[in-house]
Amino acid sequence: MISARTAADLRARIREWRARGNRIAFVPTMGNLHAGHLRLVRHARAVADRVVASIFVNPMQFGPGEDFASYPRTLEADSAALMEADADLLFIPDIDVVYPRGPEQMTRVEVPALGNILCGASRPGHFSGVTTVVAKLFNLVQPDTAVFGEKDYQQLVIIRRMVEDLNMPVSIEGVATVREPDGLAMSSRNGYLQAGERASAPRLYQLLCELRDRVVAGERDYAAVERATLEALARAGFEPDYVSIRRAADLAPPGHADQALRVLAAARLGVTRLIDNIHISAG
Ligand code: PAF
Repeated sequence: MISARTAADLRARIREWRARGNRIAFVPTMGNLHAGHLRLVRHARAVADRVVASIFVNPMQFGPGEDFASYPRTLEADSAALMEADADLLFIPDIDVVYPRGPEQMTRVEVPALGNILCGASRPGHFSGVTTVVAKLFNLVQPDTAVFGEKDYQQLVIIRRMVEDLNMPVSIEGVATVREPDGLAMSSRNGYLQAGERASAPRLYQLLCELRDRVVAGERDYAAVERATLEALARAGFEPDYVSIRRAADLAPPGHADQALRVLAAARLGVTRLIDNIHISAG
C-alpha cells in the first residue's frame, strides 16, 4: 500500500491508474478504524480496480466542546488494517493540504434542507463540515465510486444529495452497519463508554428493533412509538436527543403511503453520543 500526503503525490498516482483504464473506489475516514470501516474497504475492493482510503480528522465537522482534540489518532494500527484489507493507497493529508487558508476561510458546501435536521439540529455546522471536506476529497481523488456506512445514515443521504445537486461524477454506495455480537453498532466513539455504559449501550438498537416491529405489525401512530422509545431510552439510563421515523430516501416525515422508512436515533450515555438507525418496511 502506498501512502500520499500531498495533493501532487496523490494525483500522480491517480493519473497513472486512470491512464491504464483502472476504476477507482474511495473510502474517506477519520481513522481509528474498526470492522465497520474495513467492510467499506472490502466493498470498495469488490467494485473497483483500485482502492483509495483517506484518514483526516476534519476539524470543520466538530463543534465547540466536541471531541476533536481527543479523537483517537491511531495511524500505525490503521495503516496495518488497511494494508490487510488490501487498500492500494492511503491518503493522509495535513490540515494545510485540505484547508490551505484555514477552515474559517474555506469555501463551503452545504445541503441546507437535510443538514439542519436530526443530528444537524443538535450539532450546528456539523454536516456542512462533512460535505465541505467530502467535496474537497472527491475533487482530489476523483473516484468513480465512494463508499459510506449506513451507520451514519443522515450523512449518507446528505452526500447523495450533494452529489446529485452538484452533478459530481461519482456513484455513492452505502454499506450495512456492522454490529457487535450484542447489537451495538460499531463506532470509533464506543471506546469512550465506561464498563457500565457499554453494558447498557445495546439497548438503543434493541429499542429501535422493537419500534420497527410495532410499525411492521401495523402501528401507524409514529409520534406515539417515537415517544415510547424516547421514554424507554431514558429509563435505560440514556439522555435521548431524538428518535425519528423518516422516509428512507430523503429523510422527510413519512406520509401513510410511504413504505420504505428509516428510524434514526441519537442519545447520550455519559459523555458518549451514540447514533443508530435501521430500515423499516411499512408495507
Ligand atoms: O464518516 C466519517 O468518518 C466522516 O464524517 C467523513 C465522511 C470521513 C468526513 O470527514
